[in-house]
Amino acid sequence: MKCILLLTIVILLWACNSSNSNTQSLQRQIDSLQAQINKTYKPGFGEFMSGIQVHHNKLWFAGVNQNWKLADFEINEIKESMDNIKMYCTDRPETKFIGMIDSSLQSVSNAIQQKNSLQFKNSFHILTTTCNTCHQATGHAFNVITIPSAPPFSNQDFSAK
Ligand code: HEC
Repeated sequence: MKCILLLTIVILLWACNSSNSNTQSLQRQIDSLQAQINKTYKPGFGEFMSGIQVHHNKLWFAGVNQNWKLADFEINEIKESMDNIKMYCTDRPETKFIGMIDSSLQSVSNAIQQKNSLQFKNSFHILTTTCNTCHQATGHAFNVITIPSAPPFSNQDFSAK
């Protein structure tokens, strides 16, 4: 009887020990995956902004040429980059200001949907002012965005087809 009891204890201890070492091995795998995630490349705030700068410029030339399909594409690229900042730049305190641009992006979108040139130009001006308001609010007042005077690239046609 004693012998059976002893054997049961030994088996239980062995089972406990092996599940313990399973947990340890899982923990090691989690730690190594976490280390890999931490090393994964994520674009920085400034890289998203440089992309936004290009789309802001193209948006203007699409709009003034009444190329509404291209304008719609460009405004959505800006919206997407703003969403990506919210998702990928959570470690930057400036990210909490990003929502201030939402309503001016939406006014430009509305002008594009209505194919309204005057409303497009007005809302684009407000959008540009809001870019600068955020730069001022986040200590980047030296970074001044203007209405573009020339397209960013010579190899793209902005006219409506
Ligand atoms: C959260 C508020 C915010 C809004 C809204 C915002 N920006 Fe910025 N922008 C920043 C910050 C912060 C930086 C500095 C990023 C860094 O540290 O590299 C920046 C940097 C930039 C740069 C400099 C990038 C470089 O490396 O030269 C440009 C260009 C730019 N923004 C364009 C725009 C445009 C165009 C808009 C509007 C469509 C806009 N930004 C809206 C916060 C904002």
